[in-house]
Amino acid sequence: FEQGNAGPLVAAIDQGTSSTRFLVFNAKTAELLSHHQVEINQSFPKEGWVEEDPKEILQSVYECMERTCEKLTQLNIDISNIKAIGVTNQRETTLVWDKETGEPLYNAIVWLDLRTQSTVERLINKTPGRNKNHLKHKTGLPISTYFSAVKLRWLMDNVDEVAEAVLTHRAMFGTVDSWLIWCLTGGKSGGVHCTDVTNASRTMLFNIHTLDWDPELCNLSVHKQHFYSSLKHQTDMAFYTVFLCWVFLCLQCLGDQSAALVGQMCFQEGQAKNTYGTGCFLLRNTGAKPVMSDHGLLTTVAYKLGRDKPACYALEGSVAIAGAVVRWLKDNLGIIQTSTELEKLAASVGTSYGCYFVPAFSGLYAPYWEPSARGIICGLTQFTNKSHLAFAALEAVCFQTREILDAMNQDSGIPLTQLQVDGGMTSNRLLMQLQADILCIPVVKPSMPETTALGAAMAAGAAEGVSVWSLRPEDLSEVTSEKFEPQINPEGKGHVTHCYLISILAVPICLNTDLQ
Ligand code: G3P
Repeated sequence: FEQGNAGPLVAAIDQGTSSTRFLVFNAKTAELLSHHQVEINQSFPKEGWVEEDPKEILQSVYECMERTCEKLTQLNIDISNIKAIGVTNQRETTLVWDKETGEPLYNAIVWLDLRTQSTVERLINKTPGRNKNHLKHKTGLPISTYFSAVKLRWLMDNVDEVAEAVLTHRAMFGTVDSWLIWCLTGGKSGGVHCTDVTNASRTMLFNIHTLDWDPELCNLSVHKQHFYSSLKHQTDMAFYTVFLCWVFLCLQCLGDQSAALVGQMCFQEGQAKNTYGTGCFLLRNTGAKPVMSDHGLLTTVAYKLGRDKPACYALEGSVAIAGAVVRWLKDNLGIIQTSTELEKLAASVGTSYGCYFVPAFSGLYAPYWEPSARGIICGLTQFTNKSHLAFAALEAVCFQTREILDAMNQDSGIPLTQLQVDGGMTSNRLLMQLQADILCIPVVKPSMPETTALGAAMAAGAAEGVSVWSLRPEDLSEVTSEKFEPQINPEGKGHVTHCYLISILAVPICLNTDLQ
């Protein structure tokens, strides 16, 4: 490139559960020009608790932006061509900070965290018929530890600094997007406190029909009115000017799974994508209508690309543990040194040899919504070794996706004929082939796997009036991808069904174990 010749650029801050990334794309061609990634530490202070440091999250964003800009400069690309930045983030993770000092008042409570199990039980007990779906008609969600409202309740009840800040009107509550945007737009010197509809729809405080905060929901989870009102909300995506690298830019936000749906260009009703990150999230576009699931899926706001544009909804199957199982095998069991070793290890045996793994580390999400479930590894013999365990871990990700796909097909009545995939784990070709075999439909992976960041960057660019690549239908034909066809023979199919049933049977085993 010659200085300034790259044309308009769009960028994304992709703040995920396991890592932060900053990526810069050519707005016209969607070519990824440069990026930088920093891993995020997670702490597990007690069994079932998962926390992250808000300052480390913020620092990782600055570091990724700085390194990426340095790389662009080395490539002779003028960073002033960056016209807009999308912020896309791990959803539900909950923070409270002091608006006067700018200091976080506690660690971020990560979406996977289970400490609110008793709060959830109390809430469910208060509903007629002890119905965990009591709020679903408004929120699209079951009452679960997953969502932000119960995490906020815990913070207010258990952290003195939070309670004090609430009383003195200094507390600011937010998901990761809110925290980052507040800091990037000036923090205690006047930062903007906002979120967007996709993140708001994961708090359990938001009415997905009116697209606004719901006073009844806020009262139900006993959020004090003055505290709740400190959260501003934009009914479409928020954009604010931020001073970065000596350039004024437009900032927009979109929850990470929504961004992936946009990045995969699933704009038509019925289109779906599955993203394999820390967890694994299958979203199917249901158009302008929120469809309520009868099979344990969530109804969520998929995106709303502009103030005057209608909201688009999705059915979502959320699996809590996907990439996290790889990290567990690495950090807790030490059977691999790097995530990429897993594929080699599993491929060396090509079978789990009857070993099955249900990684219910944070209970089970869709379609069970059972926080008391715990992980199980079964079918062990003296022959079982770490390679079989590695294979079983990959199969577990695929079986969980199969359960979600079945629920999705039952809800919509129109079976998916192929699955678009993205996310870090899709570089594992063995996983992709297993997934196609276990779903019995083709799995299609775009050659540029950073679709979450691409979606956020494109949405931000479009809002800023930049002519962006992925929002033009004629660009669809240019997407290059790799297709994994199911390759199992009828005998193999029997094996798959057998494995699948075992995986489901393990759920009651988990629950019984917990009850004893
Ligand atoms: O709902 C949680 C989800 O947004 C986290 O995504 O990519 O960090 O697993 P990821």
